Formats: sequence, structure tokens, C-alpha cells
Amino acid sequence: MYRFKPELRIPGPVPVPNEVSLQMAKPMINHRGAYFKEHYPKVLARLAPLFGTTNQVHMITGSGTSAMEAAVSNLVSPDTPVLCLVGGFFGNRWAELCKAYGAKLHVLDFPWDSGIDPQKVQAYLQAHPEIELIFMVHNESSTAVLNDVEAVAKARQGHSALLVVDAVSALGGAPCQMDAWGLDVVVSASQKCLMTPPGTAFIVFSPRAREYAQNCQASRYYFDLRLYEKYRENAETPFTPNIHNVFALEEALTMIEAEGLENVFARHRLMRDMMRAGARALGLELLVQDADASPTVTAIKYPDADSFRARIRERYGVEFAGGQGVHANQIFRVGHMGYATPLDVLTALAVLEMDMKKFGQATKAAQLVLEA
Ligand SMILES: Cc1ncc(COP(=O)(O)O)c(C=O)c1O
Repeated sequence: MYRFKPELRIPGPVPVPNEVSLQMAKPMINHRGAYFKEHYPKVLARLAPLFGTTNQVHMITGSGTSAMEAAVSNLVSPDTPVLCLVGGFFGNRWAELCKAYGAKLHVLDFPWDSGIDPQKVQAYLQAHPEIELIFMVHNESSTAVLNDVEAVAKARQGHSALLVVDAVSALGGAPCQMDAWGLDVVVSASQKCLMTPPGTAFIVFSPRAREYAQNCQASRYYFDLRLYEKYRENAETPFTPNIHNVFALEEALTMIEAEGLENVFARHRLMRDMMRAGARALGLELLVQDADASPTVTAIKYPDADSFRARIRERYGVEFAGGQGVHANQIFRVGHMGYATPLDVLTALAVLEMDMKKFGQATKAAQLVLEA
């Protein structure tokens, strides 16, 4: 019906602000020329506060999974004992990647509707001193769970394993304190809370992870961290980068900085609370309890969720995401990250309450949260 004005409410890629999109129309430049060399390191330095790090942020041309693979290929030698904490689709991706690189894989499974339990991690590590690397997801987009990365980092309690974190759908939407929390590798991507088109991924190594990577025996080329570090000395990337994404990110960071990072996080929490209040007012069940709820995406149980999604796409041009894995057709997921405001949450709830013929009930509950 209104498909000429699509309303993208999925957990990434997210809508891109016009100011950011316009950067994509700039003339092409030489990626080894003066303009790029001036801007590229500055843009990456401006990402560092989002990671909460003083370490160097590196950029890879690829989607979020490319940075995940970069982490694995720089760390996982054949037969390295690794522990993957799996509570959803993307936790599982870590396990698949580690398997592909010949790790000796340990998997600690958690229910696909709640956070990773740090006590279980602690107990597992105590029983397995040989584990060298732990892989986890900060914001598990498939279940709408925000994991307590800091608590998992602490659960190591003297165990020497490095902690590798997928912050693809968290970075810029939820606080990350890589250095203070003792995280060793953090990866993210452009198309989520950074409200930039897909095609750029980011990776940060702690000094300890860097040192560990020096001895890694895995075959690697495109993702070899040492190449990125070497070229960075000359403000270059080893391979032709996604130049226009750098321009776009520069603009997106200007918007994030103007709003202020703490305000950005507060806006995400507000959208989460509005979404949850609205769903509850309709008598719907949320997949995740409050304590584990993501500020960037909400998962709601709904009968024949995929038909509902098709209906609202057809009638209103609104796009929600479906359930993944065990949640296929059982839930739908509403993204509220990056270029999203409380008003976007109200439109998301409006189509939901219209579908249920409960006119005004969800939006009213959410408005009360907004006005509180
Ligand atoms: C938490 C998380 N990790 C990893 C990915 C993979 O990113 P990409 O699809 O950009 O490779 C996604 C994408 O949705 C994600 O949400």
C-alpha cells in the first residue's frame, strides 16, 4: 500500500540519515591519496570512544562476519582449545567459524531467550584450564538479548583465556568499555547502530591479543592483522577500502557526537522501554525478560509471525524481522537502533495494535513511557 515509503524496522541494516547517504555521492578519490590519508585515521580514531578503548581500531571492507572471521583467523591455530558461548544464531556463528579454522571446539549452550550466565562460564573455565580463547556476542540480535560482557570478562577470575566479543549490533547503541572490562578483541560493523550502509567492519585487538596473534599458525591473507597494522603506519589500508563508507561514517559520527554518546545510549534504552510497554499493553509475550532485554532490538511472540510480517509489509510498507532458528515463525523482531527515534517505535506499535484491532492501546502505553 505505502511501499513507496518503506519503513525499515529490522535489526540491521538500518535506515541511513540523508546527511550520511549524501556522502555516498561524493566523487571517487584515490585511496592512497592525500584526502583519504587525512580522513581515514581520524574517522577510526573517532570510533575508539564507542569501543571504550585506546587501542587502534582497524577497518575491514566486508560485512560484520568479515571482522568475526578476521578475529578467528588471527587467533585460532589448528587444535586451539576455544570456548564458544552460544545463546543464539550469532553465538553459533562463532562456533562455526572456529570449527572452520580447526579449533578444538568447546560449546557452552544457553537458552535462546536469556543472557549468558557468567557463573556457568566461570565453572566451565575452572574445569578447563586449557581453554585459550572465549567467543561471545554482546547483543544477540537473533534473540534480542543484551549479554553482560563485563560479568563474563570478570568470570575468568585469573584464567588466562582471551575474550573475543561480537559487538556488531551493540556498538554505538549500548555502552562498551573494552579496556576497562578487559576485553581482548571486539568486532563490529557499519550497518547497525552506526547508521551507515553495510560493507565495512571494524576490529580492535588488545595488546595481549596482538601478541597472541603473532604466534597464530592459521593461514590468512586478506584478514591478516599484521598487514592492516603495517599499512596503517602510512594511513592506508592494505586493500582498496570501501572509500564512501568512510565518508558516510565520518558524517554519522558527527551526528553521534553532536547528540552525545550517553544521550545516544539513553535514547536506545527509552526505545526499548517503550517497545516493551506497548507489547505488554497488547497482552503479548516478550521473548526476553527485562534484565536481559536489548536496547537495540525487541523480540515479541506472535502467532504465525511470518504472516503478520507479510501483512504489514503489504499494507503499510513496514518491515519487521522474523525469528531465526528455533524461533522461526514464532516471534518477530523490531529493530530500534541507530537512526531511530521514539516516534519510530510508535509507528511500529501502531501497525501492531491495528493488526490486533486494539486501536491505540500499545501506542498509549508507549507514550506514557515517553512522557514519564
Ligand atoms: C550480532 C551480530 N553478529 C554478526 C552479524 C553478522 O553481520 P553481517 O551480516 O554484517 O555479516 C550480525 C548481523 O545481523 C549480528 O546481528
